[in-house]
Amino acid sequence: METILITGGAGFIGSHLTRLFVNKYPNYKIVNLDALTYAGNLNNLKDIEQAPNYTFVKGDITDMEFVKELFAVHQFTGVLHCAAESHVDRSITDPLSFVRTNVMGTVSLLQAAKEQWKGNMEGKLFYHISTDEVYGSLGDEGFFTEETAYDPRSPYSASKASSDHFVRAYHHTYHLPVKISNCSNNYGPFHFPEKLIPLCIHNIINKKPLPIYGKGENIRDWLFVEDHVRAIDTIYHNGKIGETYNIGGHNEWTNIALVKELCRQMDQKLGRAAGESEQLITYVKDRAGHDLRYAIDATKLKEELGWMPSLQFEEGLSKTIDWYLNNSEWLANVTSGDYQKYYTSLYGA
Ligand code: NAD
Ligand code: DAU
Repeated sequence: METILITGGAGFIGSHLTRLFVNKYPNYKIVNLDALTYAGNLNNLKDIEQAPNYTFVKGDITDMEFVKELFAVHQFTGVLHCAAESHVDRSITDPLSFVRTNVMGTVSLLQAAKEQWKGNMEGKLFYHISTDEVYGSLGDEGFFTEETAYDPRSPYSASKASSDHFVRAYHHTYHLPVKISNCSNNYGPFHFPEKLIPLCIHNIINKKPLPIYGKGENIRDWLFVEDHVRAIDTIYHNGKIGETYNIGGHNEWTNIALVKELCRQMDQKLGRAAGESEQLITYVKDRAGHDLRYAIDATKLKEELGWMPSLQFEEGLSKTIDWYLNNSEWLANVTSGDYQKYYTSLYGA
């Protein structure tokens, strides 16, 4: 019988991961620990909140005494660590929050796991969910492999890189059983509309400007979130202890091409004239230190564990747009209140 702690389960990726584990493994007890920051939303988990193998606990991963107590009460056998401050733009204006949550929070969980599992590490696992941004930025060619040297360049990626190093340090120093995965950009339902795709979907619906940083030539490698959590499930159960796995979509898009594809699909779905939404594209000041290109080589995951992305991007994007159009209440809820203040501070009106 496994009892798994999922941190950040009320966020974007965490909610998909929690749903997958609760539904697929009725014999596992799943405890979702989330501080419910602006990015955490229990409405993301409405469909499973009554499941008998699911418990929600509101709390902060940086509160080490509280985390240790939680380990003692639930006797976790596994941890899936998703909780983080995740938005690069916010890390530029408020780096210390990222150090606190991403570095201190991760160390607090590692310490609690180490103490709880001391003398009996057999069958235990601390799985750390990380990002491809730790590898830095690529030029026109090449891919990030698991051997690529770390070169984080934003406060967000520096904090995630630091957390990865602590996870490996606990493995090497204390023999804590760990796994790490570094994934490329995710998209899909429940994505908070501060990130490029949901922000543009929201703005196209409302006929608001679509802010493109710089020339829109930066490249990201996009993966449907359900494919990401399927990869985590595969690695959690079949990956090797102490190893790192890269997860990516082999799906590179410049930001401008991606936003034009969004506009094209949404004009069709909303019954607007072809080309209407593209008129909303507005080039704005570039992000400070904006990484040019991310692209993952996921060969190890494919060859060792047989994982492949399941969706073509155009299809995944279409499913995502449909979800936002059918869940206008969710979108209205998360874009009220503080979101407006955040939006105005970053983009003006
Ligand atoms: P998110 O911002 O949507 O969700 C983060 C969750 O963590 C929220 O529910 C929030 O309430 C919770 N949280 C924040 N601080 C906390 C704290 N101190 N204590 C407890 N809970 C706290 O993030 P996401 O996009 O779902 O990303 C999840 C993880 O995946 C992060 O570690 C991120 O670095 C990583 N990742 C994200 C992407 C992506 O494209 N979104 C890609 C690769 C890796
Ligand atoms: O690569 C994985 C990472 O992907 C995750 O670790 C992060 O948590 C996640 O937020 C994401 O980071 P990015 O910075 O790549 O995602 P974002 O959606 O913020 O931006 C995608 C690209 O679009 C990036 O080049 C910046 C650009 N952009 C973004 C916003 C919000 C714009 O041009 N305009 C915008 O308004």
